[in-house]
Amino acid sequence: PRVGVVVVAAGSGTRLGAGGPKAFVAIDDRSILRHALSGVLAAPRADVVVVAPPGREDDALADVRAAAGDRAGTVAVVAGGATRQQSVAAGLAALSPEVEIVLVHDAARALTPPEVFDRVVAALRSGAVGAIPVLPVIDTLKRVAGDEIVAAVDRSELSAAQTPQGFRRDVLDGAYAAATEDFTDDAALVAAAGHAVMAVPGHPLAFKITTAADLDRARHLVAPLPA
Ligand code: CTP
Ligand code: MG
Repeated sequence: PRVGVVVVAAGSGTRLGAGGPKAFVAIDDRSILRHALSGVLAAPRADVVVVAPPGREDDALADVRAAAGDRAGTVAVVAGGATRQQSVAAGLAALSPEVEIVLVHDAARALTPPEVFDRVVAALRSGAVGAIPVLPVIDTLKRVAGDEIVAAVDRSELSAAQTPQGFRRDVLDGAYAAATEDFTDDAALVAAAGHAVMAVPGHPLAFKITTAADLDRARHLVAPLPA
């Protein structure tokens, strides 16, 4: 089945505080979006839609050309919306009708290794309706009300969700059409529509660049080793 990837990159990056949209912030000589696209395009042929901050489509296109080279023609750029969910919806609307498997990926997870994409696609090819990468939670967790610790939470039953999150196209389209509220991620939106979503192993490098400390970490990870 034909695979499509929606790369959402339309956020403002408020928590990063870099003075402009996060997707265009440099990690090294390459932007967050350009790094994300390199990971996306390392996978075998897929249709790619980049969802850009409205008015910044040309900047997104420049990153597409730099990352995709002669495959740039298979990558579309569309404008996003005010929320991530609206941005995903805009990306879905731009996918070819022939796409049967859709991966939704945060550009902010710029260093996600290709193997994570492979695991999600493999789960869908094996018949899953939805599949998302997850990592075990490392910290000890507490349920807190105000300043009072109400309970310890058993972290063994918890996982942190990452992207790319993959779904059968008909299921994702249907779930988006049915959504009447804002969900925290696509897996939650699809689950609310009554579908089972399975977990596959995530990867530490699929962390989301959210804060300045995350950007520092990404910069160290891509820095060349000293000679
Ligand atoms: N995103 C989007 N459209 C939005 C909001 C978010 O496409 N209206 C994308 C971001 O570009 C990012 C991903 O969704 O790749 C995850 O969102 P987040 O990390 O929250 O990015 P921002 O919303 O840009 O950051 P912040 O919440 O700090 O403003
Ligand atoms: Mg956000």
